[in-house]
Amino acid sequence: MPKQTDPTKDHDKARDGSGRTDSAPDPRQSWAAATRLVRGGTRRSQFGETSEALFMTSGFAYDSPEQAEARFLGEDDGFIYSRFSNPTVAMFEERMAQLEGAEAARATASGMAAIHAALLCQLKAGDHVVAARALFGSSRYILNEILPRFGVETTLIDGCDLDQWRAAIRENTVCALIETPSNPMLDILDIAAIADLLHVAGARLIVDNVFATPLLQRPLALGADIVVYSATKHIDGQGRSLGGVVLCDRQFHDDYLNAWLRHTGPSISPFNAWLMLKGLETLTIRIRAHCDHAARLASFLKDRDEVAQLRYPGLPGHPGHELAMRQMNGCGGPMLAFALKGGKEAAFRFLNALEMIDISNNLGDAKTLITHPATTTHQSLGAEERAALGIGDGLLRLSVGLEDPADIEADLIRGLQAV
Ligand SMILES: Cc1ncc(COP(=O)(O)O)c(C=O)c1O
Repeated sequence: MPKQTDPTKDHDKARDGSGRTDSAPDPRQSWAAATRLVRGGTRRSQFGETSEALFMTSGFAYDSPEQAEARFLGEDDGFIYSRFSNPTVAMFEERMAQLEGAEAARATASGMAAIHAALLCQLKAGDHVVAARALFGSSRYILNEILPRFGVETTLIDGCDLDQWRAAIRENTVCALIETPSNPMLDILDIAAIADLLHVAGARLIVDNVFATPLLQRPLALGADIVVYSATKHIDGQGRSLGGVVLCDRQFHDDYLNAWLRHTGPSISPFNAWLMLKGLETLTIRIRAHCDHAARLASFLKDRDEVAQLRYPGLPGHPGHELAMRQMNGCGGPMLAFALKGGKEAAFRFLNALEMIDISNNLGDAKTLITHPATTTHQSLGAEERAALGIGDGLLRLSVGLEDPADIEADLIRGLQAV
């Protein structure tokens, strides 16, 4: 969160949402994650509203030209312009920072804007990036198509293989990008071990934590330097709005990220930031239910004859199971993937037979969503690259929703019967 973001600077402490008016030690320091998600970062206006206010404004008026000058000099920490920061956006950023234990959090218009900014703000011609091959398609596009245009080279590796990391990291490696669990195969990468290898070379680790959510996995505590989210997914959680977040330490924020965001302008709308704030309030109970449902459905799918392969980190059959249990709070997560015998034809028959689950490339919604990665999210990779990643034509990715799991299972049975 940038410096010029304290709308309650002159307000009494009761207005920060904590209810405190005395000078006793601040109990907010020891709040559990669930409490931070409901109350963290709240800043009340003079009206004392209980729900965070939506400041739908692009600009801010100054009391005097002296005040305007002081704000531009960074000597007065009021707001300037919503491309730089905004009170509602600042509340969302502060709540995310508290949840993640980060010194700084910056919200962006989408997850891709967050990933793009986290990479580009620190790179220059001649630099080198290492990335796990198993990444969301648009992240791969940035690495393979955009960065080379500006003289930045990327080495793609199997992120699960630490020897490949050792071989790929060079003197000019500035940063690395990974997803864990990865999209869509749910590979589990060892964040602490990868961060250690990068740090020896003076490089930073960026973790796209979308599939784990901030409740199951805390990459910064494991040694990562930067965490990125598509807040569009479980943080909003109801499929309403696009958003993203970059979390990092103060120095990275001040040296690289702040100026990049300020001048390139991938800002989130205050309205979307407000939706994200509301989404965070229910994240704890939603993630618990998403994960319970996913575990139940994974157990159901693993015994079905129509299923050639099941990918769910919560089950011992997954190659990254033990690491996932250590790294992800003992939980398999809200996503699973399964390959049907019979390739694309079987997968399409399955999808066409569904009556409730929605066919969608999105994920992290209250509604259960199913994706055929080979023809949608990962189509642009090409057949050879998909095969290298294990993304077969029969693969389906399931974003498990909040419906009664018996109803989700009944719809899956409909699909399986059609196969
Ligand atoms: C793992 C992962 N990272 C990033 C993104 C991009 O997020 P957004 O669509 O908010 O830009 C997605 C989108 O599906 C994703 O699945």
